[in-house]
This record gives sequence, structure tokens and C-alpha cells, in this order.
Amino acid sequence: MRTVFWENNELKMIDQRILPGRFEVLAYRGHKEVAIAITDMVVRGAPAIGAAAAFGLALAGYESASSSSSGLIADLQAASATLKAARPTAVNLAWAVDRLMEVASASSAERSADDLRQLVLDEAQKLADEDVAINKRMAEHGAALINDGDTIIHHCNTGALATVDWGTALGVIRTAHEQGKKIHVFVDETRPRLQGARLTAWELEQYGIPYEIISDNTAGYFLKAGKVQKCFVGSDRTAANGDVANKIGTYMLALAAFDNGVPFYPVVPTSTIDLSLVHGDLIPIEERNPQEVLGLEFEGQRVAPLNAKARNIAFDVTPHKLVTGIVTENGVAYPPFEVSLKKLVENRP
Ligand code: MRU
Repeated sequence: MRTVFWENNELKMIDQRILPGRFEVLAYRGHKEVAIAITDMVVRGAPAIGAAAAFGLALAGYESASSSSSGLIADLQAASATLKAARPTAVNLAWAVDRLMEVASASSAERSADDLRQLVLDEAQKLADEDVAINKRMAEHGAALINDGDTIIHHCNTGALATVDWGTALGVIRTAHEQGKKIHVFVDETRPRLQGARLTAWELEQYGIPYEIISDNTAGYFLKAGKVQKCFVGSDRTAANGDVANKIGTYMLALAAFDNGVPFYPVVPTSTIDLSLVHGDLIPIEERNPQEVLGLEFEGQRVAPLNAKARNIAFDVTPHKLVTGIVTENGVAYPPFEVSLKKLVENRP
């Protein structure tokens, strides 16, 4: 089953906030509700957010009462702004919305408003289908880097739940497992929202891949002890020079991997590569509600004092010098990334 899909004129999405305790699919009929669902992380993970926003724009088309193409385009433009503002770091969100707007605008002069509505929905469906195909291609390239017997550290959730289906870094691990390679995964729990402990562990259970959850600060211990052969992570936005923004904690993992000579591979569809940004310090970094940090409980009790304050930075940027290679659907990029990433992006389907 897909994480994000269109059915009976509605956008349907697995509610990732309540997994693994409960499995529920929520239905959406309005783009504003979709934007809220993205902000609240009903749906999360860069490619999944992109697909959700694309279907959100299709919903906006059907919400618009305009009977003229130009009126519809104006309504879609307003909806684009709402959807794009839902979360700042994952570039797939803006990429998906901009792609649909380009397609709609390019043929608005010769199509009726109803034709345009259908065109936007068709393009959203195409983008979602492509996401699955791209992930499978990426997984083949990435799995070639994995040896039988490898132990891998994985951060956050990059699986089927973070995409339309199959996954990015976890998709690589899944493909290597299906190829018959015996692998073991250390799953970073990924504070504060615990996407690793909740979502990645839940997915690995279903795929039958052996894993153990570790607290984020345990990764350095196992890397130094020589117990880990590779790190695979995703990315929410990768700059032209190969600096990689990903879930908070990725930078510390990359530093420990580098210090211990362990290869570090982000797995990144070309839709996540933002060639307009020359380096990673230009990537907008989301800061979320401190309550996500302060609300943690231990043995049934709130951990922090009642008046405590917190900072909740959702992503960090791993400098390219710590990155061994970047796996894309068009092949693996190696340094110098300015050259190799550009080549792979220009191959974009
Ligand atoms: O805050 P999230 O859960 O949306 O963050 C997700 C990640 O950081 C993933 O690693 C990233 O989207 C890339 S993999 C699909």
C-alpha cells in the first residue's frame, strides 16, 4: 500500500503520528487541510511531502469555483503559496508544486478550466508513480555498495513511509536484503520525534530485516568499535556542492563515521538536489515547537522541569567533505560533487 494516494476524489495518507501503535488512513478534500497535515507531520519525509503537496494542489483545482482558465490559475497560485509554506527544508515540496504549476500554466491558454483541473491531477499522479520508480532505481545503485554481512547505521525514517513507496536509504537496505545479502541495521531512534524507533523499526519488522534500535548518541560507540561498515541516510535538500541537509543528528553521525573511516552515503532522488544553492548554509532549516522536546516522558513522568525551555532544530547540514558518495536514481555521485551532481541532475527524467 502507498503512503500517499488518490482514491475516490480524495487524497489519502497513512497517519504517521500514531504508528506503530495504530494504523489509520486519513482522507483529505481540501488543500488547506493538506498543508496542515504536512506541518503536523501526518505525512513526513521529503518525497512523501512532495507527493502530498502535488495532490493538495489537485484538490485546490477542484475547490476553485472559477470557470475560466485564468481564474483557476490564480486560485492554484494562491494554493501553491499555502502548500509551500507548510514546511521549509524539504525542497521536494516546492519542487512538486512548481512542477505542477509549470505544466498547468504552459497550456492554460488552450484548455478549459475543467481540462486544466484534470491535467493537474494527472501530473500529480504521474509524479507519485515516478517517485516509486525512482526509488527502485536508486535502491539498485545503492544496494551495489552493500556487501554480504554488512552492519549499517540508518538515521530517521527514509522508508516507504517517507516516500510514496519503497523508500530512499531504507529502500537501498530493503533491496540489498531482497538480493539475499545478510545485513544488520542499527536504527538511530532519532530524537525528538523518534522516526527511527517508531517508523523505521516498524518497517524493518515487516521486511524481516534484522535490526536493533540504538539511542542516537550510541552510534559513535559502535563506529569506533569497528562494528559498522556503512552509514546510509536520506536528505531533505542537498546543495550543489554536496552539502546534505537531513534530520537533526545526521551531522554528528557523519562526523563519527568520518573519524572512524566508515563510508557515509546519503540516498537522494534528484528532486531533492537544489542546484540553485551553492552550499548548504543557504538551506532554510526548520525549527519546530519546543514542546516536541519538552514533552518527552520517562517512566511515566515528564523529563524536563515544568518551566524548562528548549530549542527544537529539525535538520542539520552535513558538509560534503564528510560524504563518501551520494546515491541518486541516475547513479552514484562522488567528489567533486559540484561536477558529479550537476551531471546526474541533468539526466533527470
Ligand atoms: O522531519 P521528517 O520526518 O520529515 O524528516 C525526514 C528526514 O529527514 C528524511 O531522512 C528525509 O526526508 C529524507 S528520506 C525520504
